[in-house]
Amino acid sequence: MEKNNRGKFASKIGVILASAGSAVGLGNIWRFPTEAGENGGAAFILIYICCIILFGLPVMIAEFMIGRQTHADASTAFKKLAPGKIQWHWIGPLGVVAGMMIFSFYSVVAGWTLNYTIQAGLNTFNQMAGNGRENVFGDYFNQFITNPVWPTLCLAAFILLTHYVVAKGIEKGIERFSKIMMPTLFILLLVLAGFALTTEGAQEGLTFLFKPDFSKINSDVILSAMGQAFFSLSIGLGCLCTYASYFRPNVNLTKTAVSVAGIDTFVAIVSGLIIFPAVFSVPGMEPTEGPSLVFVALPNIFRIVFADYPVIAYVLPLLFYFLLVLASLTSTISMHELVTAYLHERHQISRRKATYIVTAVCLFFGILCSLSLGIGSLYTIGGMSLFDLFDYLTAKWMLPLGGLFIALFTGWQLERRIIWEELTNKGQLSFYGFKIFMFLMKFVAPVGILLIFLDQLNILSFS
Ligand code: TRP
Repeated sequence: MEKNNRGKFASKIGVILASAGSAVGLGNIWRFPTEAGENGGAAFILIYICCIILFGLPVMIAEFMIGRQTHADASTAFKKLAPGKIQWHWIGPLGVVAGMMIFSFYSVVAGWTLNYTIQAGLNTFNQMAGNGRENVFGDYFNQFITNPVWPTLCLAAFILLTHYVVAKGIEKGIERFSKIMMPTLFILLLVLAGFALTTEGAQEGLTFLFKPDFSKINSDVILSAMGQAFFSLSIGLGCLCTYASYFRPNVNLTKTAVSVAGIDTFVAIVSGLIIFPAVFSVPGMEPTEGPSLVFVALPNIFRIVFADYPVIAYVLPLLFYFLLVLASLTSTISMHELVTAYLHERHQISRRKATYIVTAVCLFFGILCSLSLGIGSLYTIGGMSLFDLFDYLTAKWMLPLGGLFIALFTGWQLERRIIWEELTNKGQLSFYGFKIFMFLMKFVAPVGILLIFLDQLNILSFS
């Protein structure tokens, strides 16, 4: 094992941007509006923010601590910290399997963003809009995702792009890439939100986003919010633990976690500000539309609002989908890296070979997920396509389960000295909330996650 040759992030800002790059992605711009739309808007968002603060932030800090303390992949890390103890190190493989599943279905949607970028470049959307039919974008979207060939090619292209960056390594690949992409993404999001707020549906969109209707809350909504919080922060499967294993000793873990969670939540809300005004501006479109929101509502809004400005109607969608590609890429890189590091360090496969194996396996499952929406749609498991099943199992069960184990591990198993050392960088920083942190880790996060699970399994019922 090349312990001394392990890569490192060179700068603190690189650390924040790479971790935020992992966190910010389709989860924020595509999944968050979908979930918020299906679960009642503002009430969901409030619960989501509580989940981020109570479960998300502490688990993220815990992942950072475990990774940096051990400088190892997620599975080896638990083994090192609890040698011979109950099988904590299984958290690693659980995360690796979940990581592969997420990578597979995520790349399908990422492939769609690639196609939409290409089509925006070819000006397809504005031309389609010209023929005057209703909901042309909805028809286009459905035809596209059920096509067996083109989405599969886009998916493959996307996975290969991810492979390319991961193969370049930590500093030259992941860090450099994130440092360019993330700032560009922020600027573009703000510009788009500015445009969206000038549309007719802005008022209704804002009400939907910020005026909670508490009668909408039930255990499903809470589980969805928790799953979304874990998914969006990239926590629960050791992804950030793996990134933290490349952090230098002077990185302030708490500050980094707060910045990453802050950036992530900000981007999710701004995405809502872009999408819901757009939805309410288009007659017949509902916020509960589901996964097609970003692909159907947005082209529509660009068309309607900028009908008189063809250049803007051309440039904005192109930029938006291109940035969606980049945001997805910084996330898939982290999923790929999680599994690559695991194979390389835990199973002593060369890094190069590990990278290829991950790419091949994810290509295989990614293609199955993609086909499951079209020609394979007759084959369902528990009534769900493979695509939906992977999303459901990972976001609603595996990530919170991983989070539960990580919280239990940190609260009850990890030596206090190590926690203190990591939180204060061996005494160099002050950390005031130690007791609160431990209380969250020991009780609040595990009990909260467990109650939500029990309720979902109908063992306990709160709703
Ligand atoms: N957080 C990313 C997003 O919002 C997706 C992601 C990247 C992820 N790495 C992860 C989700 C690890 C769960 C676990 O798009």
